[in-house]
Amino acid sequence: MSYLLLYSTQDGQTKKIITRIAENLRRAGIECELRDLSTVKQVNLMPYQKVMVGASIRYGRFNSVLHNFVIRHQKQLNQIPTAFFGVNLTARKPEKRTPETNAYVRKFLIKSPWQPDICGVFAGALLYPRYRWLDRIMIQFIMRMTGGETDTTKEIEYTDWKQVDHFSEKFLQISCDKTS
Ligand SMILES: Cc1cc2nc3c(=O)[nH]c(=O)nc-3n(C[C@H](O)[C@H](O)[C@H](O)COP(=O)(O)O)c2cc1C
Repeated sequence: MSYLLLYSTQDGQTKKIITRIAENLRRAGIECELRDLSTVKQVNLMPYQKVMVGASIRYGRFNSVLHNFVIRHQKQLNQIPTAFFGVNLTARKPEKRTPETNAYVRKFLIKSPWQPDICGVFAGALLYPRYRWLDRIMIQFIMRMTGGETDTTKEIEYTDWKQVDHFSEKFLQISCDKTS
């Protein structure tokens, strides 16, 4: 029995977070399979003991691969122990870093036919030099409006790694009763 960890990423931060979670789980003796959601169409989730899905926000939305995956796999997702986390820059503010206070994750959970057992929100990374110029201008505008970093020469990682480690621990502790 192993855990399946799926991610949707644009610039790599969600992959970095879920890779850290996989490392934590492997240290605890769990076998983990890590897969990019954009390469997954249909997968049988039942052979896995637990499933985690992480996805990032771009211009207010999760990637459609997340929504398609949830629609296609909702029945199985609701039958086994699962976790979901969202990654975005709004969550750089600690008061917007919970599923209840982060608008993207809150809305996702309200609309989703899948209700994960645990849910998290992590702050992502601001990587101005790596963005295309229009994205750079847009993000700078959003940052200016929300009191964030506007220096476009900067790369800042806001992810709280202790919070990520704590989430790994919580995931380990979810009961497997659903499968029995
Ligand atoms: C083009 C672009 C649009 C973004 N839009 C939003 C947004 O609407 N709200 C937000 O909180 N963060 C936004 N972000 C921040 C990303 O969610 C953050 O950089 C995250 O770390 C990206 O994760 P990823 O590398 O796994 O895709 C945006 C980033 C980029 C580059």
